[in-house]
Amino acid sequence: MKQIIKTLSWKGSFLEIIDQSVLPLKERYIKLRTIEDVFSAIKTLKIRGAPAIGLAAAFGLLLAAKRLKTNDRDKFLSSITRYSNYIKSCRPTAYNLFYGIDRLNDIISRHSHLSVEDIVDVMEEECEKMFKEDIDASWAIAKFGETLIKNGARILTHCNAGALATGGVGTALAPMYLANKKNKKIEIFVDETRPVLQGARLTMWELKRAGIKCTLICDNMAGFLMQQGKIDLVITGADRIALNGDTANKIGTYSVAVIANFHNIPFYVAAPISTFDFSIPSGKHIKIEERDIKEVTYIGGKRIAPSRINVYNPAFDITPSHLISGFITEKGIFSPQKLLDLKNLTLNKNIV
Ligand code: MRU
Repeated sequence: MKQIIKTLSWKGSFLEIIDQSVLPLKERYIKLRTIEDVFSAIKTLKIRGAPAIGLAAAFGLLLAAKRLKTNDRDKFLSSITRYSNYIKSCRPTAYNLFYGIDRLNDIISRHSHLSVEDIVDVMEEECEKMFKEDIDASWAIAKFGETLIKNGARILTHCNAGALATGGVGTALAPMYLANKKNKKIEIFVDETRPVLQGARLTMWELKRAGIKCTLICDNMAGFLMQQGKIDLVITGADRIALNGDTANKIGTYSVAVIANFHNIPFYVAAPISTFDFSIPSGKHIKIEERDIKEVTYIGGKRIAPSRINVYNPAFDITPSHLISGFITEKGIFSPQKLLDLKNLTLNKNIV
């Protein structure tokens, strides 16, 4: 299965990414050569979206490992621990970042008897494996999710959970790409997604590029569209899903879920297994990132609010599981009540 956008590409000695902070005005690719480059690219949203962050962080740790000029295994392993903690401190909410780094550390500890050079080779193989799994997962999500999309469906999405947010074709957008490919007539309504405008800047760029009918709305318009009967289905992505199905996703997702529930509109969350944090029982245990207040007081570099005011800028919110109709994963569609089955399925298959 292939990528439809080169969101990130591993080039052996560096990671190339499309700089999402300048889209859609510029299509610029940048090279990340060190773990510090990767840290900064994630922090400044040059690369964003949970699965893409997870992959970038894993390649970041690989870059650090490749640059460690030591054959002393103990020194190497203690540097890996230090770099792992460093890259994990980058953004707190998306579980994929922790999944990717923990998975690399797990493979390292299972090969810690090897030479440093061989451990680095094992790390590189694991990173490439995770990348391929992410691409395959997004196509499987496409296949399962597409069955929910009727011909003529009008679908609302929030933020960007498309190809730009993953190694593959996306999560929430993946079923829509496939429905379009199968010639189903669909229309996608895209919340602009304040404050950073991932919907307006990124989702609209992706969908326009793919030739899919899409309409941009401001976040506060979604309720009115639902009231008018103009939305049949909502699909969003996720940053971290707890065992009971409570879901952290881009700020504003909870409000969309509440209005969808009020209007009896199905609300689905699409995410790969690498976004499920089965170690936490509920959303209460998810740390919500708070970002620079300038994201709220400025738009496009222009101040839009008075200076010296109180501003609160949580980047994510938690949608309680009872508002979620189901989770579209690479293993099928699961209701919130069935997440224990998903956990057991993934444990049995050694996926997590
Ligand atoms: O702050 P961002 O842009 O990284 O937030 C992204 C989201 O909230 C996405 O919906 C989520 O990561 C899922 S991406 C497949």
